[in-house]
Amino acid sequence: MAKFILLINNKNYPVEVEPNTPLLWVLRDKLGLTGTKYSCGEGICGACTVHIDGNAERSCIVSVKDAEGSSITTIEGLAENPEHPIFKTWIELEVSQCGYCQPGQIMTLAAMLNKNSSKQEIEKEMSTVLCRCGTYHRIRKAVSKLVEGK
Ligand code: FES
Ligand code: FES
Repeated sequence: MAKFILLINNKNYPVEVEPNTPLLWVLRDKLGLTGTKYSCGEGICGACTVHIDGNAERSCIVSVKDAEGSSITTIEGLAENPEHPIFKTWIELEVSQCGYCQPGQIMTLAAMLNKNSSKQEIEKEMSTVLCRCGTYHRIRKAVSKLVEGK
């Protein structure tokens, strides 16, 4: 076991875990930040996406030792601003179905919008975040609205 201090949603969280523990386990099991979801555990599905220094990263394949020293934002951090345009658009277009993949979808999109990525770049990246409910059509509609205002 080793001690780490993680900066998450602008707050410092001390944790004591094995250095190779995935960040996702720490978020969910140690800190109760369960908005970030576990699905594949192998970096494939995107359900566990958080921001690390502003980049969308899959927290199931980032170790706690690699995450220390970075600024981490989870869906709870983004939700501190309920007026965020992504949330407003998601609600307006009723994007979610079961909701399980949605934190990963939203965190991936938020990182790309922050970087002013093109619609094509966003769609390519979003296509790697899997949704078992098949909400892709509504996600694409929401992306169009956020990028092009339509
Ligand atoms: S749970 Fe991390 S990418 Fe699937
Ligand atoms: S909304 Fe159910 S998995 Fe995507």
